Amino acid sequence: MNVILVAAECAPFSKTGGLGDVAGALPKALARRGHRVMVVVPRYAEYEEAKDVGVRKRYKVAGQDMEVMYFHAYIDGVDFVFIDSPVFRHLSNNIYGGNRLDILKRMVLFCKAAVEVPWYVPCGGVCYGDGNLAFIANDWHTALLPVYLRAYYRDHGLMKYTRSVLVIHNIAHQGRGPVDDFSYVDLPGHYLDSFKLYDPVGGEHFNIFAAGLKAADRVLTVSHGYSWEVKTLEGGWGLHNIINENDWKFRGIVNGIDTKEWNPKFDIQLHSDDYTNYSLETLNVGKPQCKAALQKELGLPVRSDVPLIGFIGRLDHQKGVDLIAEAVPWMMSQDVQLVMLGTGRPDLEEVLRQMEHQYRDKARGWVGFSVKTAHRITAGADILLMPSRFEPCGLNQLYAMNYGTIPVVHAVVGGLRDTVQQFDPYSETGLGWTFDSAEAGKLIHALGNCLLTYREYKESWEGLQRRGMTQDLSWDNAAEKYEEVLVAAKYQW
Ligand code: GLC
Repeated sequence: MNVILVAAECAPFSKTGGLGDVAGALPKALARRGHRVMVVVPRYAEYEEAKDVGVRKRYKVAGQDMEVMYFHAYIDGVDFVFIDSPVFRHLSNNIYGGNRLDILKRMVLFCKAAVEVPWYVPCGGVCYGDGNLAFIANDWHTALLPVYLRAYYRDHGLMKYTRSVLVIHNIAHQGRGPVDDFSYVDLPGHYLDSFKLYDPVGGEHFNIFAAGLKAADRVLTVSHGYSWEVKTLEGGWGLHNIINENDWKFRGIVNGIDTKEWNPKFDIQLHSDDYTNYSLETLNVGKPQCKAALQKELGLPVRSDVPLIGFIGRLDHQKGVDLIAEAVPWMMSQDVQLVMLGTGRPDLEEVLRQMEHQYRDKARGWVGFSVKTAHRITAGADILLMPSRFEPCGLNQLYAMNYGTIPVVHAVVGGLRDTVQQFDPYSETGLGWTFDSAEAGKLIHALGNCLLTYREYKESWEGLQRRGMTQDLSWDNAAEKYEEVLVAAKYQW
């Protein structure tokens, strides 16, 4: 099958979160299964490996004629096509920057161009459009693609057998705006209804995700738990009715991880004098060395006996950073070290700076995003906190388990519930600690038990690490399930 994944970001070229990681890894896993796979993503910066293919196309966006160029690179069995336009350039540090209409116009241009890539951009001399084809669109940014596929092509008898799958990574962002925004998406008037949504918060409004969910042939969420959650009033963020009406085309598939990039055995961020690569066999030597290296790099006291707790992620309400902030005084009263890395809400960034200032010998709050530091914290920490209020899948807990770092998570939600089973000391089973409501007190309780086990029950701790590290978290499992969905969509009628 020819598969084209379309996304607003793709690691390592562009990444603000897990979506970028998925767009970087899933295509390679599908290619390993024998499919011909392309990724289409905006060209936010100059990427050395990608060359101009010499094709120029023009698209109308809000009455304005816009030219796009295409750059191509073939990496790890996957064709990467970057769509170039002045509206994408120089956004590499701010992919979703600009006002609502700027973003909307960018996504309209991107989706219009992306849907035609398989016919105009030759990869290895052949076009993708010639074979049986399926698009995988991701989140609201590319939710227009399934709509365009229907409106411009299938409604006119073109691309009759091309299918689209829309993946929900986060339903909280929907591409909402006033109903007038419809004039920017350039669709026949009868499509307006599929964009119109009414909810008590937004009133009657324009909603791109709503239209995408209706138009797509299949819809996926990034975990089983989340596919259930988005059907509820709390988890659907206004879209639960549409989702329930389209229930037949829904499925949840838990994300995998890139086991080359996020593997303590090969991790290039651990190639340095102080850090070291390690595996299950060398865990007891390698991980303590990484911990000492991290402590040294961050200027914390180098002590092997003190539990090192990490947090990596966006600093916002979703990630529950405020719960950690509330728990900081308790944590700082214990003999622990705490390292937090992320950017986000200015008040939470301030919390990190304050914490570091107040507890110089115990805590570090790194405001910013550094891939290298994220890897090093994952390797050097003993424990990873993930108190997310909702988490469609969550990748950091998966990375952590692969590095023998024990997750403590709010496990009522989506992917965290699917992937982290509570430790049971009697049967010596489970992968970490979970708490069942987003409250600082619950976090403290779970973390307290985790710390006790770390200090007093070394064998149980090693068992937790071993179980985490021996799971198959690779994309291969998930890619097989994606394939089933693509095939099901193809033979739908
Ligand atoms: C979004 C979700 C996160 C998920 C990621 C990749 O960032 O918030 O839970 O892991 O997408 O699917």
